[in-house]
Amino acid sequence: MGDLASLLKESWSLVEEHQDKVAGYFYARIFLRYPDLRDLFPVQMDVQRARLLGAIVTAVQTLEDPERFDEYLRALGRDHRKFHVEPEHYEVVGGALIESMRAFAGEDWSIEYDQAWADAYAVIASKMLAGADADPNPPYWYGEVVAHERRSRDIAVFTVLPLQPLEYRAGQYLSLECPRYQPRLWRTYSPANAPRRDNTLDFHVRAVGAGWVSSALVRRLQVGDMVKLAAPMGSMTLDRRSTRDAVFVAGGTGLAPIKSLLEELTRYNRTRWVHVFFGAQTREDLYDLADLNRLAARYPWLSVVTACSDDPTFPGEQGYISDVVAKYGPWKEHDFFVSGSGRMVKATLKRLAELQVPSVRIKYDSFSD
Ligand SMILES: Cc1cc2nc3c(=O)[nH]c(=O)nc-3n(C[C@H](O)[C@H](O)[C@H](O)COP(=O)(O)OP(=O)(O)OC[C@H]3O[C@@H](n4cnc5c(N)ncnc54)[C@H](O)[C@@H]3O)c2cc1C
Ligand code: HEM
Repeated sequence: MGDLASLLKESWSLVEEHQDKVAGYFYARIFLRYPDLRDLFPVQMDVQRARLLGAIVTAVQTLEDPERFDEYLRALGRDHRKFHVEPEHYEVVGGALIESMRAFAGEDWSIEYDQAWADAYAVIASKMLAGADADPNPPYWYGEVVAHERRSRDIAVFTVLPLQPLEYRAGQYLSLECPRYQPRLWRTYSPANAPRRDNTLDFHVRAVGAGWVSSALVRRLQVGDMVKLAAPMGSMTLDRRSTRDAVFVAGGTGLAPIKSLLEELTRYNRTRWVHVFFGAQTREDLYDLADLNRLAARYPWLSVVTACSDDPTFPGEQGYISDVVAKYGPWKEHDFFVSGSGRMVKATLKRLAELQVPSVRIKYDSFSD
């Protein structure tokens, strides 16, 4: 471990057990001195208390070699423009970070620790600023909700028309804010369609437990509401040069990016067999099956297998989709695309490893952080 890295770890360990208090102090420090910065953060700070502090500490400690993470940091900086972060804010936040740690570490804090954090933060901040500065795109796009349909108690499918064209690739995701109901809370969602001429984007959203944004999108969002969308991210995209057959594994609204990829394939595919495995707890959660079946009826290269893990009379497969995929196959020569909750993705990747599917052939998006 380099000197800088050990200084950072050592000093953080002095305050780690008081993380919550450090976070409280950190935000208080920023907002007392620069009250305008309060407007950049969510209304209820307790929702994700310490999110920024946690994010910075993780970044500073794990990005030991910032050159290796150059692209990630540039993208993070570009993305921060959606929070209305300006270059001068970096110094404020960096200063508050060090002051908060110093305040809680007490006598054990040293001048070397100050310097280590200042140096590491400066490198990261400069890369983020360079990324933000070089981005030709707007910080975000406004979009109007032009359709909204409840497909089940917890799931909605809605369509957004961005006011300016927003380029993305099938399979990518982008972050979305719903200012009318949950201002300043951004969450990532995957468009469920390949790019269209009319620029509209479909989203499939499931309201999770006590979820702030997802429940607003499912239960409150209406046609005519405006949302904000930020630049697309993610690399679960199709390689047009691949001639391998493909398997798509989707859990619940994890179907969204899979449907987008399928739609792209419908535009050019003639030669690749494509198998979709779509799983959910109950049949009600297979909210888009009618459309999938329509696609399968139209494209002879496409097959769809459905499974429910908690619906004993469901006429399709029974069990977790990760286990169901394993019953079919062999899959050693296929390209895989997996999308859904963290648990579902983890279970599927484990199964695929057991089936000896090479990891280089698997692309996935996990809905958990
Ligand atoms: C790359 C990516 C793409 C995504 N695409 C989609 C998509 O197309 N459709 C979609 O519906 N969601 C998608 N998500 C998930 C989405 O970004 C949010 O995490 C989700 O909507 C919950 O946000 P929230 O504000 O409602 O919940 P929060 O307020 O953030 O969380 C509230 C509580 O719910 C828990 N929680 C959060 N997510 C889940 C979950 N998935 N299952 C169970 N509990 C959870 C949290 O731990 C917390 O306790 C995607 C996530 C990622 C990372
Ligand atoms: C080294 C510098 C920084 C790093 C590594 C960093 C990292 C991060 C990360 C990883 C997130 C979570 C991303 C997400 O949810 O989309 C985040 C969120 C955020 N950051 Fe930063 N950030 C830095 C500097 C700043 C600065 C200077 C500001 C300006 C005040 C800022 C404001 C925010 C805000 C408002 C959020 C959303 C917080 C929330 O939803 O609670 N960040 N940051």
